[in-house]
Amino acid sequence: MKGLSILGCTGSVGTNVLRIVDAFPDRFRVVGLAAGHNTERLAEQVVRYRPTLVSVASAEAAQTLRRAIGPGTEVCSGQQGMVDVATHPEAHVVVASAVGAVGLVPTYRALEAGKDIALANKETLVMAGQLMVEKARERRARLLPIDSEHCALHQCLDGRTPDSVRRLVLTASGGPFRNRAADTFAAVTPEEALNHPTWNMGRKITIDSATLMNKGLEVIEARWLFDVAAPRIEVLVHPQSVVHSMVEFVDGTVLAQLGVTDMRLPIQYALSYPERWDAAIPGMDFAKAMRLEFDVPDRRRFPCLDLAYLALESGGTLPAVLNAANEEAVAAFLDHRLSFTGIAALVADIMEAHPPTALRTLDDVLEADRWARERAHALIDRGASARA
Ligand SMILES: NC(=O)c1ccc[n+]([C@@H]2O[C@H](COP(=O)([O-])OP(=O)(O)OC[C@H]3O[C@@H](n4cnc5c(N)ncnc54)[C@H](OP(=O)(O)O)[C@@H]3O)[C@@H](O)[C@H]2O)c1
Repeated sequence: MKGLSILGCTGSVGTNVLRIVDAFPDRFRVVGLAAGHNTERLAEQVVRYRPTLVSVASAEAAQTLRRAIGPGTEVCSGQQGMVDVATHPEAHVVVASAVGAVGLVPTYRALEAGKDIALANKETLVMAGQLMVEKARERRARLLPIDSEHCALHQCLDGRTPDSVRRLVLTASGGPFRNRAADTFAAVTPEEALNHPTWNMGRKITIDSATLMNKGLEVIEARWLFDVAAPRIEVLVHPQSVVHSMVEFVDGTVLAQLGVTDMRLPIQYALSYPERWDAAIPGMDFAKAMRLEFDVPDRRRFPCLDLAYLALESGGTLPAVLNAANEEAVAAFLDHRLSFTGIAALVADIMEAHPPTALRTLDDVLEADRWARERAHALIDRGASARA
């Protein structure tokens, strides 16, 4: 049995991970669970899966949880609590499925402890990709992607080295505004942006999908997971979300991975790798009329994509700055304090103001993250970005 610690267990990915645990009760034991503030859902999970250690974001949430679950499970809180869950001695695999920068330190500490990581929390690789892959290599820990696009690339590559790759092609649904006129973008509401056409996901990634920042973050994620440089990573809009991504090899052969839009597929792949287990997930129905369309993204309407390429090519702490500015911008947009076009404008302003800084340690990353958030708060409080 594999011992699992799940960071972000109450979220969209986290609850799907537990559905895989339900489907294979003889293969997994849930050792640790970490969540933010949803103590109600977490209490249900604790009663059902009986983990040894549980963590929540704050001391108050920990009190609420203790009252709800009674004695028997240790409850801790804050960043150290999440680190304790991520490094629990009985956990063989850590599922990193918290959203945003909050997952960085716990995931890094899990790698230091030699745990295999099933990674959904792409922000951690955006912020500190080089440090994370170096640590994984040093500790001989596996870093397996849960993101469906990277899961597709992992399957197409099947262990082949970067020198056999001509390009990686990440597919994007295009989000809800694929066909919307640019001059109406400033008026986009959070409710419209949260209405994703093909995937049902958490709020932050859904907004990132609407701005195409999600695809930009995925380009950075792919660079670190597969050691392929930015100019050889391309993005194609594919509204049907049937082809989850493709690899073109140096001999011109293209391999694509297809599947239904159900996150249980990539989650199960990461948790069962290198085996394949019989899944109770319906396959594809090719007899149904099906069109597969591909198009280049409109980089003028979706400037976040170029911002991510710029951050990746500049390197150092700029990707961490991009990530932090974006997290703050998305939160402000969801809170009606920033316009939709303000998201990209704010990120661009903050990146431009950031002095180029080399990235050597986790502290460099955390300092860049802090700097960018402080600046974002100041700009948002002042009525945000001049460019929006
Ligand atoms: N959803 C998808 O289909 C999908 C696909 C590919 C990749 N991803 C990536 O997977 C990650 C999770 O996405 P999601 O859609 O599952 O997000 P989500 O539904 O919003 O869930 C986020 C999880 O993170 C937890 N969390 C938030 N703040 C926290 C804190 N301060 N301390 C500890 N835990 C905290 C939340 O806990 P509470 O709810 O208890 O506050 C929740 O469990 C993201 O990085 C996303 O980009 C998601």
